[in-house]
Amino acid sequence: MGKTATLIIDGKSYEFPIIEGTEGDNAIDISSLRARTGFITYDPGFANTSVCKSSITFMDGEKGILRYRGIPIEDLAEHSTFVETSYLLIMGHLPTRSELNRFSVRLNDHSLVHEDMRHFFENFPRRAHPMGILSSMVTALREFYRGVLEEEENLEITFARLLSKVRTMAAMSYKISRGHKVVYPRHDLTYCANFLNMMFDSPVRPYTIDPDIVRALEVFWILHADHEQNCSTAAVRLVGSARVNIYAAISAGICALWGPLHGGANQAVVEMLQQIYDSGGDPMPFIERAKDKSDPFRLMGFGHRVYKTYDPRAKIMKKVCDKVLAKLGRKDPLLDVAQRLEEMAIKDPYFIDHNLYPNVDFYSGIVLRAIGIPLNMFTVMFAIGRLPGWISQWKEGRYDPDWKLYRPRQVYVGDREREYVYIDER
Ligand code: CMC
Repeated sequence: MGKTATLIIDGKSYEFPIIEGTEGDNAIDISSLRARTGFITYDPGFANTSVCKSSITFMDGEKGILRYRGIPIEDLAEHSTFVETSYLLIMGHLPTRSELNRFSVRLNDHSLVHEDMRHFFENFPRRAHPMGILSSMVTALREFYRGVLEEEENLEITFARLLSKVRTMAAMSYKISRGHKVVYPRHDLTYCANFLNMMFDSPVRPYTIDPDIVRALEVFWILHADHEQNCSTAAVRLVGSARVNIYAAISAGICALWGPLHGGANQAVVEMLQQIYDSGGDPMPFIERAKDKSDPFRLMGFGHRVYKTYDPRAKIMKKVCDKVLAKLGRKDPLLDVAQRLEEMAIKDPYFIDHNLYPNVDFYSGIVLRAIGIPLNMFTVMFAIGRLPGWISQWKEGRYDPDWKLYRPRQVYVGDREREYVYIDER
């Protein structure tokens, strides 16, 4: 018999099994709690609840560790490509050269978007947010590719199709939103170079692919590729648990990511830095506002549910940021504001006491801006990066006998039974 935990309610003891993770994160298995005791647990935001066993990503928020399939994020950011990292996450191992070639060919083969889908794009209002467009288009994808869906032998094609087409659709929506001609994917370009080319090439100004910028994008996407049970991944698992098709589950992830507390933070960071800059460049009043409990304002790009130290992704992103700005020979005034803000915030007792450090979004916004990505596309960039994570988590759920329909409980605190009163008597 393994380890157990004892719960005592009104003097009666109950034993619950302990599940031991490979890295020492142990969980009390309370799946039989309600049946045995009549009690449920209360855990807002699931801060203390694990909903699955997973072998995809390990994070240690206290030590600032992040690993995909056991491999440290620092090594992947240094040596891997986004396509290779995607393969690692989805298939569970680093690909051999021939596996990687086959996967890359698949990505190329499935990179085009059905021409009929363009009508959808063209009819969204001009000011539509690209995240709204992307989530709708991903749901619609299923209807265009009904033939090849989730049968076992077609899974790899479905995954490649999602990875490749979402990238094409993102670039396409940008071109259409500007009233420009769509640029099609090219088979001779890598995944990231292809995206940049589809975004920025034009008949009047051909885009020159710069390997350093391509590398910056590779790293940005590698850093975002998975982050275990975050809000959008939990949304993918939750919606997927109803056994809906994968496109609908991924679309739910995109919607969850849109929020400023999650993936929308990179856009919110740049907006905040701009606000500071426009108000004279002094971050102090903003830091004071973030500390004021009567003010809902928070420092965007600071804090994390799991990391209680420096986000390891932020460290890498900061280096990428310096490199990109040096390469482009640009001085971004918002970077100066960001540096001043960071220096002041990390010395401030409030931020120290609350373990609030810069997260990945703090620097990624500046990198995206330098590459030329428009502000309202920032969260879409995060979504493309998170896709392999969502896919791998959905896939893991699919093979997990414990992937039950998500159906949390609640503690009802409303009125007790009362009489219906007719409208004229109210
Ligand atoms: N600025 C000021 N105070 C903050 C901040 C912040 N950015 N973040 C947390 N706090 C305070 C909060 O007011 C609370 O204080 P107290 O205990 O005195 O009431 C305490 O820290 C804990 O906050 P919480 O909201 O309970 O913590 P959480 O784990 O739910 O929040 C978070 C995590 C990311 C939602 C939050 O830190 C936040 O809103 N950050 C700004 C948005 C942001 O940068 N999001 C990107 C996250 S990284 C990308 C990703 O992985 O999705």
